Amino acid sequence: MASRFEASCPDGLCPGWSVILKGETPAEASKFEINFLCDRDDRIAFHFNPRFTESDIICNSYMANHWGQEERCNSFPLGIEEPFQIEIYSDNDNFHVYIDETKVMQYKHRVEDLKTITKLQVVNDVNISSLEITKKNVY
Ligand code: GAL
Repeated sequence: MASRFEASCPDGLCPGWSVILKGETPAEASKFEINFLCDRDDRIAFHFNPRFTESDIICNSYMANHWGQEERCNSFPLGIEEPFQIEIYSDNDNFHVYIDETKVMQYKHRVEDLKTITKLQVVNDVNISSLEITKKNVY
């Protein structure tokens, strides 16, 4: 049930691109991750990590070989075996996260050079029905 999706967008995903993941969590789901990765240094600009064991969504960045300070969503609108839609897009200042069209999180950019954010990854306990990456006019 470990699934893995990766897309490479050499011109950069931030700001201005919207990622829309539609899926469902499998029966024994423990956690899954949506990661916005940088093209060098193993950096994770944005790690979005719903944990079903804790009913919490943990957000963080991985830079200079360690995790930074965690930020948590104040709601957990995901259920086991329930379909969901997660949209993440960024402007110059923040990532914005919507679950089923309700905003759940705003995460201030920690990576300074947004152009280096070129990879998207979805891993672990999630059945992906579709994943769209589309240009969004944020200005
Ligand atoms: C760690 C976990 C990582 C990541 C990180 C976020 O405990 O092993 O996968 O989720 O927390 O702060």
